[in-house]
Amino acid sequence: MQFETLPGFREFYPEACARRNHIFNRWRHVARAFNFLEYDAPVLEPLELYIEKSGQEIVGQLFNFEDRGGRAVALRPELTPSLARLIGAKANSLKRPVKWFNIGENYRYERPQKGRLRAFYQFNVDIFGEPGPSADAELICLLTQALQAFGLGSNDFKVRLSDRDLWLLMLAAEGLDEAGSATVLSIIDKLERTERAKTVERLSSVMGEDAEDFLSRIEEVIAIRDFETLRAYILNLPLEGDLADQAKARIGNWEKLLRHLKAAGAGEFIQIDLGIVRGLAYYTGFVFEAFEASGEGRALAGGGRYDALVQKLGGPDIPAVGFAMGDVTLADLLDGKSLMPAYMQRPEFIAIIGGADERDAALGDAAQLRALGYQVEYPLKDSGFGKQFKAANQSGARFALIYGSEELERSAVKVRDLGNGNEAEIPRDQLIRQVPALLESGIE
Ligand code: HAM
Repeated sequence: MQFETLPGFREFYPEACARRNHIFNRWRHVARAFNFLEYDAPVLEPLELYIEKSGQEIVGQLFNFEDRGGRAVALRPELTPSLARLIGAKANSLKRPVKWFNIGENYRYERPQKGRLRAFYQFNVDIFGEPGPSADAELICLLTQALQAFGLGSNDFKVRLSDRDLWLLMLAAEGLDEAGSATVLSIIDKLERTERAKTVERLSSVMGEDAEDFLSRIEEVIAIRDFETLRAYILNLPLEGDLADQAKARIGNWEKLLRHLKAAGAGEFIQIDLGIVRGLAYYTGFVFEAFEASGEGRALAGGGRYDALVQKLGGPDIPAVGFAMGDVTLADLLDGKSLMPAYMQRPEFIAIIGGADERDAALGDAAQLRALGYQVEYPLKDSGFGKQFKAANQSGARFALIYGSEELERSAVKVRDLGNGNEAEIPRDQLIRQVPALLESGIE
Protein backbone atom coordinates (compact mmCIF):
# COMPACT_ATOMS: atom_id res chain seq x y z
CA MET A 1 0.00 0.00 0.00
CA GLN A 2 1.28 3.42 -0.99
CA PHE A 3 0.59 6.18 1.53
CA GLU A 4 -0.46 9.57 0.18
CA THR A 5 -0.12 13.06 1.61
CA LEU A 6 -3.20 14.57 3.23
CA PRO A 7 -5.28 16.83 0.96
CA GLY A 8 -3.87 20.36 0.85
CA PHE A 9 -0.44 19.36 2.22
CA ARG A 10 2.66 19.45 0.04
CA GLU A 11 5.82 17.43 -0.22
CA PHE A 12 8.94 19.31 -1.18
CA TYR A 13 11.24 17.35 -3.46
CA PRO A 14 14.61 19.13 -3.87
CA GLU A 15 13.47 21.23 -6.84
CA ALA A 16 10.37 22.36 -4.96
CA CYS A 17 12.51 23.05 -1.91
CA ALA A 18 14.81 25.23 -4.02
CA ARG A 19 11.77 27.20 -5.26
CA ARG A 20 10.55 27.60 -1.71
CA ASN A 21 13.99 28.75 -0.55
CA HIS A 22 14.11 31.30 -3.37
CA ILE A 23 10.90 32.82 -1.99
CA PHE A 24 12.11 32.69 1.64
CA ASN A 25 15.47 34.23 0.73
CA ARG A 26 13.89 37.23 -0.99
CA TRP A 27 11.40 37.74 1.86
CA ARG A 28 14.16 37.63 4.46
CA HIS A 29 16.39 39.92 2.43
CA VAL A 30 13.71 42.63 2.15
CA ALA A 31 12.73 42.36 5.83
CA ARG A 32 16.37 42.90 6.80
CA ALA A 33 16.66 45.86 4.39
CA PHE A 34 13.85 47.49 6.40
CA ASN A 35 15.63 46.52 9.64
CA PHE A 36 12.99 44.08 10.93
CA LEU A 37 14.09 41.41 13.43
CA GLU A 38 13.20 37.75 12.95
CA TYR A 39 11.26 35.92 15.69
CA ASP A 40 9.36 32.63 15.94
CA ALA A 41 6.43 31.13 17.87
CA PRO A 42 4.90 27.66 18.40
CA VAL A 43 2.87 26.00 15.62
CA LEU A 44 0.57 24.37 18.21
CA GLU A 45 -1.34 26.76 20.45
CA PRO A 46 -4.24 26.72 22.92
CA LEU A 47 -7.50 26.67 20.93
CA GLU A 48 -8.69 29.59 23.06
CA LEU A 49 -6.16 31.92 21.38
CA TYR A 50 -8.15 31.85 18.12
CA ILE A 51 -11.71 31.81 19.39
CA GLU A 52 -13.19 35.31 18.99
CA LYS A 53 -9.76 36.84 18.31
CA SER A 54 -9.43 35.69 14.70
CA GLY A 55 -13.12 35.71 13.78
CA GLN A 56 -15.67 33.13 12.75
CA GLU A 57 -14.27 32.36 9.31
CA ILE A 58 -10.92 31.13 10.65
CA VAL A 59 -12.46 29.32 13.63
CA GLY A 60 -14.45 27.23 11.15
CA GLN A 61 -11.18 26.23 9.46
CA LEU A 62 -9.13 25.15 12.48
CA PHE A 63 -7.14 21.96 12.75
CA ASN A 64 -8.01 21.46 16.41
CA PHE A 65 -7.99 18.48 18.76
CA GLU A 66 -7.55 17.49 22.37
CA ASP A 67 -3.98 16.62 23.35
CA ARG A 68 -3.12 13.74 25.69
CA GLY A 69 -3.26 16.09 28.67
CA GLY A 70 -6.87 16.98 27.86
CA ARG A 71 -5.99 20.46 26.53
CA ALA A 72 -7.97 21.90 23.63
CA VAL A 73 -5.29 22.83 21.09
CA ALA A 74 -5.08 24.00 17.45
CA LEU A 75 -2.42 24.19 14.77
CA ARG A 76 -1.95 27.89 14.11
CA PRO A 77 -4.12 29.17 11.24
CA GLU A 78 -2.23 32.48 11.39
CA LEU A 79 0.54 33.99 13.46
CA THR A 80 -0.96 37.29 14.59
CA PRO A 81 -2.57 36.15 17.90
CA SER A 82 0.67 34.37 18.97
CA LEU A 83 2.66 37.48 18.08
CA ALA A 84 0.27 39.72 20.01
CA ARG A 85 0.76 37.48 23.06
CA LEU A 86 4.58 37.58 22.70
CA ILE A 87 4.50 41.36 22.47
CA GLY A 88 2.02 41.73 25.34
CA ALA A 89 4.22 39.68 27.69
CA LYS A 90 7.31 41.86 27.10
CA ALA A 91 5.77 45.14 25.92
CA ASN A 92 7.37 47.27 28.61
CA SER A 93 10.91 46.10 27.99
CA LEU A 94 10.82 46.20 24.18
CA LYS A 95 12.39 49.13 22.37
CA ARG A 96 9.66 50.85 20.33
CA PRO A 97 8.75 50.77 17.57
CA VAL A 98 8.98 46.98 17.58
CA LYS A 99 9.60 45.80 13.98
CA TRP A 100 9.51 42.00 13.70
CA PHE A 101 9.09 39.42 10.93
CA ASN A 102 8.62 35.68 10.64
CA ILE A 103 8.51 33.04 7.91
CA GLY A 104 6.54 29.96 8.93
CA GLU A 105 3.89 27.41 8.13
CA ASN A 106 0.21 27.85 8.95
CA TYR A 107 -2.69 25.43 8.75
CA ARG A 108 -6.30 26.02 7.72
CA TYR A 109 -8.87 23.36 6.95
CA GLU A 110 -10.00 25.06 3.74
CA ARG A 111 -11.25 23.38 0.59
CA PRO A 112 -8.01 22.90 -1.38
CA GLN A 113 -8.23 24.88 -4.65
CA LYS A 114 -6.08 27.12 -6.80
CA GLY A 115 -4.18 29.43 -4.46
CA ARG A 116 -5.56 27.79 -1.33
CA LEU A 117 -4.04 24.84 0.54
CA ARG A 118 -4.34 23.48 4.04
CA ALA A 119 -0.67 23.99 4.88
CA PHE A 120 1.00 27.11 3.49
CA TYR A 121 3.82 29.46 4.36
CA GLN A 122 3.37 33.07 5.32
CA PHE A 123 5.78 35.97 5.58
CA ASN A 124 4.46 37.97 8.55
CA VAL A 125 5.68 41.51 9.09
CA ASP A 126 4.39 43.69 11.94
CA ILE A 127 5.10 46.96 13.76
CA PHE A 128 4.04 47.65 17.37
CA GLY A 129 4.08 50.88 19.32
CA GLU A 130 3.46 53.42 16.55
CA PRO A 131 -0.14 54.68 16.23
CA GLY A 132 0.43 57.08 13.29
CA PRO A 133 0.12 56.28 9.57
CA SER A 134 3.90 56.23 9.07
CA ALA A 135 3.90 52.64 10.42
CA ASP A 136 1.12 51.60 8.01
CA ALA A 137 3.07 53.27 5.19
CA GLU A 138 6.33 51.53 6.15
CA LEU A 139 4.60 48.16 5.92
CA ILE A 140 2.89 48.87 2.60
CA CYS A 141 6.29 49.96 1.24
CA LEU A 142 7.82 46.74 2.52
CA LEU A 143 5.01 44.78 0.88
CA THR A 144 5.50 46.43 -2.52
CA GLN A 145 9.30 46.12 -2.28
CA ALA A 146 9.03 42.43 -1.38
CA LEU A 147 6.94 41.76 -4.50
CA GLN A 148 9.30 43.87 -6.61
CA ALA A 149 12.22 41.79 -5.31
CA PHE A 150 10.83 38.88 -7.35
CA GLY A 151 10.86 40.97 -10.52
CA LEU A 152 7.18 41.99 -10.33
CA GLY A 153 6.16 45.51 -11.33
CA SER A 154 3.10 47.75 -11.25
CA ASN A 155 1.68 45.93 -14.30
CA ASP A 156 1.78 42.71 -12.30
CA PHE A 157 0.30 43.58 -8.90
CA LYS A 158 -1.66 46.23 -7.02
CA VAL A 159 -2.25 46.94 -3.35
CA ARG A 160 -5.89 47.73 -2.61
CA LEU A 161 -6.11 50.21 0.22
CA SER A 162 -9.13 50.69 2.46
CA ASP A 163 -10.01 51.90 5.93
CA ARG A 164 -12.32 50.39 8.54
CA ASP A 165 -12.37 53.71 10.43
CA LEU A 166 -13.84 55.45 7.39
CA TRP A 167 -16.46 52.73 7.11
CA LEU A 168 -17.39 53.18 10.79
CA LEU A 169 -17.84 56.91 10.19
CA MET A 170 -19.95 56.30 7.07
CA LEU A 171 -22.05 53.74 8.92
CA ALA A 172 -22.44 56.11 11.89
CA ALA A 173 -23.79 58.65 9.38
CA GLU A 174 -26.29 55.94 8.39
CA GLY A 175 -27.34 55.76 12.05
CA LEU A 176 -25.75 52.40 12.81
CA ASP A 177 -24.23 51.52 16.19
CA GLU A 178 -21.06 49.43 16.72
CA ALA A 179 -22.79 46.04 16.55
CA GLY A 180 -24.77 46.98 13.42
CA SER A 181 -21.60 48.31 11.78
CA ALA A 182 -19.73 45.08 12.55
CA THR A 183 -22.52 43.08 10.88
CA VAL A 184 -22.48 45.33 7.81
CA LEU A 185 -18.67 45.09 7.50
CA SER A 186 -18.80 41.30 7.55
CA ILE A 187 -21.46 41.48 4.79
CA ILE A 188 -19.28 43.85 2.73
CA ASP A 189 -16.36 41.43 3.16
CA LYS A 190 -18.36 38.78 1.31
CA LEU A 191 -19.94 41.11 -1.26
CA GLU A 192 -17.93 39.92 -4.26
CA ARG A 193 -18.69 36.27 -3.58
CA THR A 194 -22.43 36.75 -2.89
CA GLU A 195 -25.44 37.26 -5.13
CA ARG A 196 -26.88 40.77 -4.89
CA ALA A 197 -30.33 39.59 -3.72
CA LYS A 198 -28.72 37.56 -0.92
CA THR A 199 -26.70 40.61 0.17
CA VAL A 200 -29.86 42.75 0.29
CA GLU A 201 -31.51 40.09 2.41
CA ARG A 202 -28.57 40.06 4.83
CA LEU A 203 -28.50 43.87 5.02
CA SER A 204 -32.19 43.99 5.82
CA SER A 205 -31.38 42.52 9.26
CA VAL A 206 -29.85 45.89 10.16
CA MET A 207 -31.45 48.30 7.66
CA GLY A 208 -34.94 46.81 7.24
CA GLU A 209 -36.86 48.21 4.25
CA ASP A 210 -34.02 50.53 3.28
CA ALA A 211 -31.59 47.63 2.57
CA GLU A 212 -31.76 47.92 -1.24
CA ASP A 213 -30.97 51.68 -1.28
CA PHE A 214 -28.40 51.16 1.44
CA LEU A 215 -26.60 48.62 -0.75
CA SER A 216 -26.58 51.11 -3.64
CA ARG A 217 -24.92 53.66 -1.34
CA ILE A 218 -22.35 51.05 -0.28
CA GLU A 219 -21.65 50.22 -3.94
CA GLU A 220 -21.15 53.90 -4.68
CA VAL A 221 -18.47 54.09 -1.98
CA ILE A 222 -16.80 50.91 -3.18
CA ALA A 223 -16.59 52.30 -6.71
CA ILE A 224 -14.49 55.30 -5.54
CA ARG A 225 -10.95 55.04 -6.93
CA ASP A 226 -9.40 58.46 -6.36
CA PHE A 227 -8.61 60.27 -3.17
CA GLU A 228 -10.22 63.61 -4.11
CA THR A 229 -13.60 61.91 -4.57
CA LEU A 230 -13.16 60.01 -1.33
CA ARG A 231 -12.24 63.15 0.59
CA ALA A 232 -15.24 65.06 -0.77
CA TYR A 233 -17.54 62.13 0.04
CA ILE A 234 -16.34 61.82 3.65
CA LEU A 235 -16.28 65.56 4.39
CA ASN A 236 -19.85 65.87 3.07
CA LEU A 237 -21.25 63.13 5.30
CA PRO A 238 -24.03 64.34 7.63
CA LEU A 239 -21.83 64.10 10.75
CA GLU A 240 -21.74 66.49 13.68
CA GLY A 241 -19.48 67.38 16.61
CA ASP A 242 -17.01 64.71 17.59
CA LEU A 243 -17.80 62.50 14.58
CA ALA A 244 -17.23 65.38 12.15
CA ASP A 245 -13.86 66.07 13.83
CA GLN A 246 -12.96 62.39 13.55
CA ALA A 247 -13.77 62.42 9.85
CA LYS A 248 -11.49 65.43 9.30
CA ALA A 249 -8.67 63.82 11.32
CA ARG A 250 -9.05 60.61 9.39
CA ILE A 251 -8.78 62.38 6.05
CA GLY A 252 -5.60 63.99 7.45
CA ASN A 253 -4.21 60.52 8.14
CA TRP A 254 -5.05 59.42 4.60
CA GLU A 255 -3.14 62.42 3.26
CA LYS A 256 -0.09 61.55 5.37
CA LEU A 257 -0.22 57.91 4.32
CA LEU A 258 -0.55 58.64 0.60
CA ARG A 259 2.19 61.26 0.72
CA HIS A 260 4.58 58.82 2.41
CA LEU A 261 3.78 56.08 -0.10
CA LYS A 262 4.31 58.40 -3.04
CA ALA A 263 7.62 59.72 -1.67
CA ALA A 264 8.89 56.18 -1.12
CA GLY A 265 8.05 55.14 -4.68
CA ALA A 266 5.10 52.91 -3.77
CA GLY A 267 2.40 55.23 -5.15
CA GLU A 268 2.06 53.46 -8.50
CA PHE A 269 1.05 50.22 -6.75
CA ILE A 270 -1.78 51.70 -4.68
CA GLN A 271 -5.44 51.42 -5.62
CA ILE A 272 -8.07 52.94 -3.35
CA ASP A 273 -10.73 50.26 -2.89
CA LEU A 274 -13.13 50.47 0.04
CA GLY A 275 -14.43 47.04 -0.94
CA ILE A 276 -11.57 45.59 1.13
CA VAL A 277 -12.63 45.32 4.78
CA ARG A 278 -10.76 42.07 5.76
CA GLY A 279 -12.47 39.04 7.23
CA LEU A 280 -10.42 38.78 10.44
CA ALA A 281 -12.13 40.23 13.49
CA TYR A 282 -9.30 42.26 14.98
CA TYR A 283 -8.65 44.96 12.32
CA THR A 284 -9.25 48.58 13.35
CA GLY A 285 -7.98 51.18 10.82
CA PHE A 286 -6.26 51.05 7.44
CA VAL A 287 -6.53 47.62 5.81
CA PHE A 288 -4.98 46.44 2.55
CA GLU A 289 -4.61 43.46 0.29
CA ALA A 290 -2.26 42.78 -2.62
CA PHE A 291 -3.66 41.19 -5.79
CA GLU A 292 -2.54 40.38 -9.28
CA ALA A 293 -3.00 43.54 -11.37
CA SER A 294 -5.57 41.73 -13.53
CA GLY A 295 -7.66 41.39 -10.37
CA GLU A 296 -7.80 37.65 -10.85
CA GLY A 297 -6.92 35.03 -8.28
CA ARG A 298 -6.88 35.03 -4.51
CA ALA A 299 -4.95 37.64 -2.54
CA LEU A 300 -1.15 37.60 -2.52
CA ALA A 301 -1.03 39.31 0.87
CA GLY A 302 -3.30 40.99 3.37
CA GLY A 303 -3.07 43.03 6.53
CA GLY A 304 -3.86 46.20 8.36
CA ARG A 305 -4.03 47.89 11.71
CA TYR A 306 -5.13 45.98 14.82
CA ASP A 307 -4.71 48.39 17.73
CA ALA A 308 -6.86 46.48 20.26
CA LEU A 309 -5.58 42.89 19.95
CA VAL A 310 -2.65 42.94 22.39
CA GLN A 311 -4.88 44.30 25.11
CA LYS A 312 -7.64 41.80 24.28
CA LEU A 313 -5.11 39.04 24.91
CA GLY A 314 -4.31 40.39 28.37
CA GLY A 315 -1.39 42.69 27.47
CA PRO A 316 -1.05 46.47 27.69
CA ASP A 317 -2.63 48.94 25.27
CA ILE A 318 -0.19 48.99 22.35
CA PRO A 319 -0.96 49.93 18.74
CA ALA A 320 -0.16 47.40 16.01
CA VAL A 321 -0.14 47.06 12.25
CA GLY A 322 1.07 44.26 10.00
CA PHE A 323 0.47 41.98 7.06
CA ALA A 324 1.16 38.48 5.84
CA MET A 325 2.10 37.32 2.34
CA GLY A 326 1.45 33.70 1.35
CA ASP A 327 3.77 31.50 -0.72
CA VAL A 328 1.08 29.71 -2.76
CA THR A 329 -0.48 32.54 -4.77
CA LEU A 330 2.95 34.19 -5.06
CA ALA A 331 4.54 31.07 -6.60
CA ASP A 332 1.58 30.74 -9.03
CA LEU A 333 2.05 34.35 -10.12
CA LEU A 334 5.83 33.98 -10.52
CA ASP A 335 5.33 30.82 -12.59
CA GLY A 336 2.76 32.59 -14.78
CA LYS A 337 5.21 35.45 -15.44
CA SER A 338 8.22 33.11 -15.90
CA LEU A 339 9.88 34.78 -12.93
CA MET A 340 10.61 31.61 -10.96
CA PRO A 341 14.24 30.70 -11.60
CA ALA A 342 14.97 27.11 -12.67
CA TYR A 343 17.22 25.83 -9.96
CA MET A 344 19.73 23.04 -10.27
CA GLN A 345 22.34 22.65 -7.61
CA ARG A 346 25.70 21.89 -9.22
CA PRO A 347 29.01 20.97 -7.60
CA GLU A 348 32.03 23.15 -8.35
CA PHE A 349 34.31 20.12 -8.50
CA ILE A 350 33.82 16.46 -9.26
CA ALA A 351 36.65 13.97 -8.71
CA ILE A 352 37.47 11.29 -11.26
CA ILE A 353 39.35 8.47 -9.63
CA GLY A 354 41.71 5.81 -11.07
CA GLY A 355 42.15 3.24 -8.26
CA ALA A 356 42.46 2.76 -4.49
CA ASP A 357 45.53 4.98 -3.92
CA GLU A 358 44.11 7.67 -6.17
CA ARG A 359 40.88 7.49 -4.14
CA ASP A 360 42.83 8.23 -0.92
CA ALA A 361 44.38 11.29 -2.55
CA ALA A 362 41.00 12.47 -3.88
CA LEU A 363 39.32 12.02 -0.49
CA GLY A 364 42.03 14.05 1.22
CA ASP A 365 41.74 16.93 -1.27
CA ALA A 366 37.94 16.81 -1.24
CA ALA A 367 37.90 17.06 2.56
CA GLN A 368 40.11 20.15 2.48
CA LEU A 369 38.08 21.83 -0.27
CA ARG A 370 34.78 21.06 1.47
CA ALA A 371 36.09 22.44 4.78
CA LEU A 372 36.66 25.72 2.92
CA GLY A 373 33.04 25.66 1.70
CA TYR A 374 33.59 24.54 -1.92
CA GLN A 375 31.05 22.12 -3.35
CA VAL A 376 32.78 18.84 -4.11
CA GLU A 377 31.42 15.53 -5.36
CA TYR A 378 33.14 12.20 -6.00
CA PRO A 379 31.84 8.78 -7.08
CA LEU A 380 30.97 6.62 -4.11
CA LYS A 381 31.92 3.44 -5.94
CA ASP A 382 34.72 2.47 -8.31
CA SER A 383 34.12 2.49 -12.06
CA GLY A 384 36.04 3.09 -15.31
CA PHE A 385 37.20 6.54 -16.52
CA GLY A 386 34.69 6.57 -19.40
CA LYS A 387 31.70 6.16 -17.15
CA GLN A 388 33.05 8.68 -14.66
CA PHE A 389 33.63 11.36 -17.34
CA LYS A 390 30.09 10.87 -18.59
CA ALA A 391 28.73 11.28 -15.06
CA ALA A 392 30.96 14.33 -14.54
CA ASN A 393 29.57 16.03 -17.65
CA GLN A 394 26.02 15.27 -16.60
CA SER A 395 26.59 16.58 -13.07
CA GLY A 396 26.89 20.16 -14.32
CA ALA A 397 30.12 20.56 -12.31
CA ARG A 398 32.49 23.31 -13.43
CA PHE A 399 35.69 21.30 -13.04
CA ALA A 400 36.74 17.67 -12.96
CA LEU A 401 39.67 16.82 -10.68
CA ILE A 402 41.34 13.86 -12.37
CA TYR A 403 43.31 11.48 -10.17
CA GLY A 404 45.19 9.01 -12.45
CA SER A 405 48.24 6.94 -11.49
CA GLU A 406 50.63 9.17 -13.51
CA GLU A 407 49.40 12.36 -11.88
CA LEU A 408 49.61 10.71 -8.47
CA GLU A 409 53.25 9.76 -9.09
CA ARG A 410 54.01 13.42 -9.73
CA SER A 411 51.93 14.44 -6.61
CA ALA A 412 49.68 16.35 -8.97
CA VAL A 413 46.05 16.48 -10.04
CA LYS A 414 44.78 17.21 -13.54
CA VAL A 415 42.02 19.82 -13.58
CA ARG A 416 39.63 19.87 -16.53
CA ASP A 417 37.38 22.85 -17.20
CA LEU A 418 34.16 21.05 -18.13
CA GLY A 419 32.90 24.16 -19.90
CA ASN A 420 35.58 24.24 -22.62
CA GLY A 421 37.50 20.95 -22.15
CA ASN A 422 40.81 22.73 -21.38
CA GLU A 423 43.10 21.06 -18.87
CA ALA A 424 45.90 22.06 -16.51
CA GLU A 425 48.04 20.03 -14.16
CA ILE A 426 48.39 21.43 -10.64
CA PRO A 427 50.68 20.15 -7.87
CA ARG A 428 48.33 18.88 -5.14
CA ASP A 429 49.93 21.04 -2.48
CA GLN A 430 49.03 24.14 -4.53
CA LEU A 431 45.46 23.15 -5.36
CA ILE A 432 43.77 25.03 -2.50
CA ARG A 433 45.73 28.18 -3.31
CA GLN A 434 44.81 28.06 -7.00
CA VAL A 435 41.09 27.35 -6.58
CA PRO A 436 39.92 31.00 -6.33
CA ALA A 437 41.67 31.86 -9.64
CA LEU A 438 40.26 28.72 -11.27
CA LEU A 439 36.71 29.61 -10.24
CA GLU A 440 37.20 33.20 -11.31
CA SER A 441 38.59 32.64 -14.81
CA GLY A 442 38.38 28.91 -15.63
CA ILE A 443 41.18 27.34 -17.68
CA GLU A 444 42.10 29.31 -20.80
P1 HAM B 1 -4.92 36.47 5.74
O1 HAM B 1 -5.50 37.43 4.78
O2 HAM B 1 -5.82 35.47 6.36
O3 HAM B 1 -4.24 37.36 6.87
O4 HAM B 1 -3.71 35.71 5.06
C1 HAM B 1 -2.65 36.42 4.46
C2 HAM B 1 -2.20 35.71 3.20
O5 HAM B 1 -1.89 34.34 3.49
C3 HAM B 1 -3.24 35.62 2.11
O6 HAM B 1 -3.29 36.81 1.34
C4 HAM B 1 -2.76 34.42 1.31
O7 HAM B 1 -1.71 34.80 0.44
C5 HAM B 1 -2.18 33.53 2.38
N1 HAM B 1 -3.16 32.47 2.74
C6 HAM B 1 -4.15 32.52 3.63
N2 HAM B 1 -4.84 31.37 3.67
C7 HAM B 1 -4.25 30.54 2.77
C8 HAM B 1 -4.47 29.19 2.33
N3 HAM B 1 -5.43 28.43 2.84
N4 HAM B 1 -3.65 28.69 1.38
C9 HAM B 1 -2.66 29.44 0.84
N5 HAM B 1 -2.40 30.69 1.23
C10 HAM B 1 -3.18 31.25 2.17
C11 HAM B 1 -3.63 36.85 7.98
O8 HAM B 1 -3.33 35.68 8.13
C12 HAM B 1 -3.24 37.92 9.00
N6 HAM B 1 -2.81 37.25 10.23
C13 HAM B 1 -2.17 38.82 8.43
C14 HAM B 1 -1.66 39.84 9.39
C15 HAM B 1 -0.44 39.93 9.94
N7 HAM B 1 -2.37 40.87 9.86
C16 HAM B 1 -1.62 41.57 10.68
N8 HAM B 1 -0.43 40.99 10.75
